[in-house]
Amino acid sequence: MNENDTERMLAFLKDHRYRPTDTPDRADLILINTCSIRDKAEQKVYSTAGRYKRLKRNNPELVIGISGCVAQQKGGELLKRMPYVDIVVGTHNIHRLTELLKRVREEKTQVVSTELYGSIESGEFPTPEVDGVKAYVSCMRGCDNYCTYCIVPYVRGREVSRPHRDVIEDIRRLADRGIKEVTLLGQNVNSYCGDVSFPELLRMVCRVDGIERVRFLTSHPKDISEELIYLFGEEEKLARSMHLPIQAGSDRVLERMKRRYTVKEYLKKVSLFRRLYRDVSISTDMIVGFPGETEEDFRETMEVVRTVGFDSIFSFKYSPRPGTEAATYTDQLPEDVKQRRLEELQATQREITIRRNRLLVGRRMKVLVEGESKLDRTELTGRTTCNRIVNFPGDKGLTGSMVDVTIRVAYANSLRGEL
Ligand code: 5AD
Ligand code: SF4
Repeated sequence: MNENDTERMLAFLKDHRYRPTDTPDRADLILINTCSIRDKAEQKVYSTAGRYKRLKRNNPELVIGISGCVAQQKGGELLKRMPYVDIVVGTHNIHRLTELLKRVREEKTQVVSTELYGSIESGEFPTPEVDGVKAYVSCMRGCDNYCTYCIVPYVRGREVSRPHRDVIEDIRRLADRGIKEVTLLGQNVNSYCGDVSFPELLRMVCRVDGIERVRFLTSHPKDISEELIYLFGEEEKLARSMHLPIQAGSDRVLERMKRRYTVKEYLKKVSLFRRLYRDVSISTDMIVGFPGETEEDFRETMEVVRTVGFDSIFSFKYSPRPGTEAATYTDQLPEDVKQRRLEELQATQREITIRRNRLLVGRRMKVLVEGESKLDRTELTGRTTCNRIVNFPGDKGLTGSMVDVTIRVAYANSLRGEL
């Protein structure tokens, strides 16, 4: 989501003749796009901004801005803490960026723009500025679920969907620029309620000429419909991977998180996927150390981890977020308990991931070539439909094409193969 916001900002700025640079000392504008999902991400904002402050000494014209969820949450407060910041721009005001920049430059003033809106304004979602073969395209924003640990509904506002025509138009433009893979983005894509249903939207995206692979992020387990599950069997371009955050393996914890599904219901959906599609990879998000999580609850989580055998897990220690319900719970757990549970979960998952990767050795898989491998220029890198990174020797002229690769070696985070 944040990356996509950055790409949208780049699109607006490009229209005003800004170009990206890798060297901060040469920049006329530095925008720090921020995340507030956990406290650690938030703290990074202050240290990052502090590093850029000194650049103003050499270049008094330098404009420093803070965008994204921390900007949304803290607004003008950020200017008190960091008086050298010129712009604070929230999650619904990205399209105002160039207008804000003009005000800063002409009126020599600091500006804050953090209003949240109930609808999407025209022009708010320009076609993202990306290179390479993959792009993210937002189809909705916001979230109405209010899971008790989560700050997203407060910083990204209510759920609003983009009309399907706008989404398809963006994807056509990206396909014209050579993009082969799109990921439809939304905090909760299955709640997409534009003028067509989410499965219908996916079907239309799969029909766009030039697009070879379609993914989507993120799905809420309670909203995954059978129609969507069966769509994977009908649309070949729909990648065989599913990110389905479970968050915890104990019904008691899930209830306190207000996730609105039970472990049993979750497992039923996953097993339907696995039964129908041999190659599908299932990844998830997991929070350990949620308030009141007992050793028994955690054991249940570990049990689910082993039962499902996720292809990968993004796991986090619970971090209390200001304004959320769970932050007010009185049974918060100590840091050392959270840390121990996280380490145990990650160690177990590491083994499961390698084991699942090994199952692919000897198989021939379709890989979308993304370009040269960063580690070894003689190698290419790409991804399988089940979202594994594969490195293999090959000519970089193959970038952007779908090739057959036989998998030879499995590592923890990638595979090696040959054309
Ligand atoms: N603490 C820890 N992890 C969190 N997430 C969301 N809120 C919190 C929090 N307060 C995790 C969830 C979510 C992912 C994007 O971040 O697992 O799926
Ligand atoms: Fe946060 Fe996702 Fe729950 Fe929405 S559905 S409140 S974004 S965890």
